[in-house]
Amino acid sequence: MPAGAQVLNLAMSKTYVSEALGKIGEEVTLKGWVHARRDHGRVVFIDLRDSTGLIQVVVSPDISPEIYRAAQKLKNESVIKVEGLVKKREKQFLNPKLKTGTIEVKAQNLVVINKAKDLPFPIDTDGYEIDESLRLKYRYLDLRRKRMAEIIRLRHRAIQHIRIFLTRRGFVEIETPILSKATPEGARDFIVPSRLQPGEFYALPQSPQQYKQLLMVAGFERYFQIARCFRDEDPRADRAYGEFTQLDMEMSFVTQEEILALTEELFTDLAQKVLNKKILQTPFPRFTYDEAIKKFGADKFDLRDKKDPDVLAFAWVLDFPLFEKTATREISPMHHPFTAPKDEDLPLLDTDPLKVRSFQHDLVCNGFEVGGGSIRITDPRIQQKIFEILGHSVQEIEAKFGHLLTAFEYGVPPHGGIAPGIDRLLMAAQGEPSVREIIAFPNTSGGRTAVMEAPSKVTKEQLDELGIEVKKNYK
Ligand code: AMO
Repeated sequence: MPAGAQVLNLAMSKTYVSEALGKIGEEVTLKGWVHARRDHGRVVFIDLRDSTGLIQVVVSPDISPEIYRAAQKLKNESVIKVEGLVKKREKQFLNPKLKTGTIEVKAQNLVVINKAKDLPFPIDTDGYEIDESLRLKYRYLDLRRKRMAEIIRLRHRAIQHIRIFLTRRGFVEIETPILSKATPEGARDFIVPSRLQPGEFYALPQSPQQYKQLLMVAGFERYFQIARCFRDEDPRADRAYGEFTQLDMEMSFVTQEEILALTEELFTDLAQKVLNKKILQTPFPRFTYDEAIKKFGADKFDLRDKKDPDVLAFAWVLDFPLFEKTATREISPMHHPFTAPKDEDLPLLDTDPLKVRSFQHDLVCNGFEVGGGSIRITDPRIQQKIFEILGHSVQEIEAKFGHLLTAFEYGVPPHGGIAPGIDRLLMAAQGEPSVREIIAFPNTSGGRTAVMEAPSKVTKEQLDELGIEVKKNYK
C-alpha cells in the first residue's frame, strides 16, 4: 500500500479515497480533483482523485437539476467536494483495475471548489513525450501524473527507511551549514555575497565533507545526513545541475571493510523492502580500479545480462589512484584531498605521487556511480603534504583548511565514510532516463529552477547594500 494511503482520519472535514472502502453504507464527504468525467446521458460518472487514489462518483439527475448540470459541465482537474453514500457496486460494474473498484459513491451534493483551466499538457500519460522545459514550468501539474507522484512517494519511503535503518544502528542525523566555505569536490562553487562582511563571500557546500569530519573530532562516531549538495558543473542525464541530495555518512574507528559491509546491508535491505528489486550478487562483487578499466573500459559498468529492470547490479570499485592528471591540471585528487593514501604507498608520495593508491571506494549500480567515499587522512602532516603536492602554498593551506588541520591536533579518531547520491541511486534503480525524474523541482538542463525560473535580476538597492556592481557585457 502506498505510504500516502495509510492516512488516518485526521482531517475531520474529508474522507480520504482510501478510507471509503471501509465505509460502505455510510455518508462521506470526499474532496479532490476531477480525474475524468463520463457523461452517459442519464447519469454522470466522475473519477475523483485525491492523494490516496481514485474513486467513482455517480451523479444522477434526481439529485437536483442544477447540480446535475454542474456535473455535466465539470472540467477535468477542477477541485470539488462531493457528499454522498458509499455503495457496493453491482457485480457487472466491478472494476478490478481500481483499488476502490468494488464500490462507488452516490452523490447527494457536489460543490465546485476551484475550476481548472485546460491544462498545458496531458497528465494521464507517462510524460516522457512532453517537452521537458514545459513539464518543469508547470511542475506542480506534472507531479499530478501517476508516474511522477509514485516516484516522489517512493523517494519519501526510501529516505524514511534509510533514516530508521541508520538510527537503529546508532547513527545521529546532524544538519551542517549551507552558508559555508568552499569544500573542494572538483566542481565550481556557488558563492553568496555577505552584507555584514562587504567584499566577502560564503560558498555553498559541494558536500558536507569537512563538517562530517569535524563531527568525528567532536566525538559523535556515527553521523548521517540527507544532505543537499551544491555544484556548478555542466548537467548530464545522471548529474543534476546546481543541487542534488546525498545520503552522507561518516564513522569513527572504522575499517574500509566495515563501511562496505554496512553500505551493502543498507542497500540490500532497501532494495528488498522498499524498491522491490532483486540484487544480482551479494556480497557485492569487487573490482580494483585497474581491473575495472581493463575489463569495462571505465570505473562504472553494468553487470546485468539483459538490463533486467527488476535487478540491481551493485559492485564496488577499490584501490583507486590517489591522484590523476586532468586536462587542466598536472595533478589533482581522484576523489577529494581528504582521502587517505594506502600505508604501503606512503613513500611514493615523495617520488611518484601518481602511483599512490588510496582508500577510496566507489559504489556502482546498473552502470552508474551511485556513491563514493573513503578512509580519511587524520595525520595533519600527511594532510599538509597532500595539499602541498596539489600545489597549495603554506598560506593558502592555512587560509582554506587551517580549521581542519587545527582540529586534527585535538584528538581526532581514525574515520571514514561514504555518500551515496539519493537522486542517482533512485534513477538507476527505477531505470529512469534522468535524475530530474527523481527530483520534485529540479533545475532545467539550462540551469534555471523549475516553475520559478531563477536566477533572476535583483534590485539596485540590494546590489548597493552588498557593494556589488554588475559589469556590462562581462562575458
Ligand atoms: P562524490 O563527489 O563522489 O563524493 O559524490 C558522491 C555521490 O553523489 C552523487 N552525485 C550527484 N548526484 C546527482 N547530481 C550530481 N551533480 C551529483 N554529483 C555527485 C553521486 C556520487 O557518487 N564528500 C564525498 C563523499 C565522501 O567522501 O564520503 C563526495 O561528495 O552518486
